[in-house]
Amino acid sequence: MGVMSPAAAGGAQQAAWRKAAICGALLLAVFYMLSPPSGAGAASGSSSRLYRLAGGGGGGAGGACGRGKGALPLPALPKRSDLAKVLEGRGFKVGAELGVQRGIFAADMMRNWPSCEKYYLVDIWMQQTNYSDGANVGNNVQERIYEEAKARVADFGDVPSFLRMFTSKATAFIADESLDFVYVDARHDYCGAKEDMELYWPKLRPGGIMAGHDFVTAETVSRWTNGTQDWSLCADGTVHPGAVRGAAEEFAAAKGVTITVTGDGPPSFAVVKPC
Ligand SMILES: C[S@@+](CC[C@H](N)C(=O)[O-])C[C@H]1O[C@@H](n2cnc3c(N)ncnc32)[C@H](O)[C@@H]1O
Repeated sequence: MGVMSPAAAGGAQQAAWRKAAICGALLLAVFYMLSPPSGAGAASGSSSRLYRLAGGGGGGAGGACGRGKGALPLPALPKRSDLAKVLEGRGFKVGAELGVQRGIFAADMMRNWPSCEKYYLVDIWMQQTNYSDGANVGNNVQERIYEEAKARVADFGDVPSFLRMFTSKATAFIADESLDFVYVDARHDYCGAKEDMELYWPKLRPGGIMAGHDFVTAETVSRWTNGTQDWSLCADGTVHPGAVRGAAEEFAAAKGVTITVTGDGPPSFAVVKPC
């Protein structure tokens, strides 16, 4: 091992200090570049910042929370496809649709939401027991519907991301507070709809939008379908006449949020997660 003279040791110490100072300045600069400005975006906290660092689909939607910290309220929504314009206007980037079927709404959303970077399409595409719903068709047909959905969204490159599984299982693949938007349209009985709202609320970032289709009761659906569909029946065999509407109203009351109902039919509901 060599021995250093005091002069050489002093020079080496100075060089080490210079190196430390440069590293510190670089770290500080990187920190400032990655931190959201105060006000819009900052209210969503560290998870949003982490999402941005990971570079996975943005997540740093600037328009989610107003400068006064409160979540931006929803405008009137004549039809459910108007949701896409709201998402685009708020700079949102990541969405999920629970219950996709043929991908008709999913394609419509991605077409009218050009800033969308990731759209999760969650569907089991499989016949279920204890489920009296027109969409609950046999498995041969489900396979064809799945192929149709894939073909319908093929033009959107790597934006669509298929999760062919139960909605309750797909939560494992979606980080908390990573979604700007979630559309609940899988099971239409009270229990299934309520479960999806509860499971996906933590996945939604503050200021994000949860919406869902078929804001109606089982009685309305029975009337529309001449009694051929019974949305009051839950998977566990229990009966809840409120169906999606009952679930959404209870859920919104528990979260202290206001429901906006679309003007088309069947109507959709939408709520904003508080900031
Ligand atoms: C009404 S369709 C969805 C329609 C679609 N959102 C649209 O507007 O174009 C409902 C779909 O949800 C799926 N589904 C029902 N319950 C589910 C569950 N628990 N997990 C995953 N998919 C489910 C069905 O396979 C069906 O394709």
